[in-house]
Amino acid sequence: MAAALYMRGIGVVHCPTTLLAQVDASVGGKTAVNLTAGKNLAGVFHQPRAVYADVGVLATQSEEEYRSGLGEVLKTALVAGPELLELVEQGAPGLTARDPATLAAIVAACVRAKAAVVAADPLERGPRRALNLGHTFAHAIEHAAGFGRVPHGIAVAVGLGIALRAARELGLLEDRELPGRLGRLMGRLGLPADLAELRSSRLSDMPAALSPKELVRAMRLDKKSRGGAVHLVLARAAGRLDLEVPVDGALIESWLAP
Ligand code: GLY
Repeated sequence: MAAALYMRGIGVVHCPTTLLAQVDASVGGKTAVNLTAGKNLAGVFHQPRAVYADVGVLATQSEEEYRSGLGEVLKTALVAGPELLELVEQGAPGLTARDPATLAAIVAACVRAKAAVVAADPLERGPRRALNLGHTFAHAIEHAAGFGRVPHGIAVAVGLGIALRAARELGLLEDRELPGRLGRLMGRLGLPADLAELRSSRLSDMPAALSPKELVRAMRLDKKSRGGAVHLVLARAAGRLDLEVPVDGALIESWLAP
């Protein structure tokens, strides 16, 4: 974001040193900072000239931050389709062991998938919205918990599970095996299975923070929310998404009850 603002924009090369940045944040030119009012509310698009990702450095990442990156890997797989989802399932043991060959293959596949989406819609007028799958819920979790308390990708993983529940409740889900499949994969990758697990693991000192009411209040601050309805990206199946489903806040609240 500094490179976008300095002298009205200078070139930048990213050398991402976290899994989350390698598979997602370094690619596509989104830059932003959080405001008290919500996540990423002040920002600008500024494409990097190049991205240099060395998976060797991931050996030094904290376990929690590494798992957070796995949340974005799962999101990318659900957006891209069955092929990448299968690659992640097959690579799960190598991913948890941070095996460099597995990481190189999966990081490259995620970047290819994301770059294809971004190239078609760099300014997020339409198809790029797919990359926000799970993020309306994730941003609400991060905001309600207090920024910095729940790592972004961990909130995204929980958000993906909620998005699949939402698709099922709204009668949109076509691949009925997908929620169970994702849940098993999250378990293998050490990610919280759902909001209940996240609530008990993180927020024993602030039980009200992740209440359905607080979460829906935070969702209404999301950039994609309009009027009374929250606009969700939902998956019918891996690679088959609805990009803008307006859903009443009260209905969402009912899905988030403990
Ligand atoms: N992180 C989502 C995107 O770059 O569009």
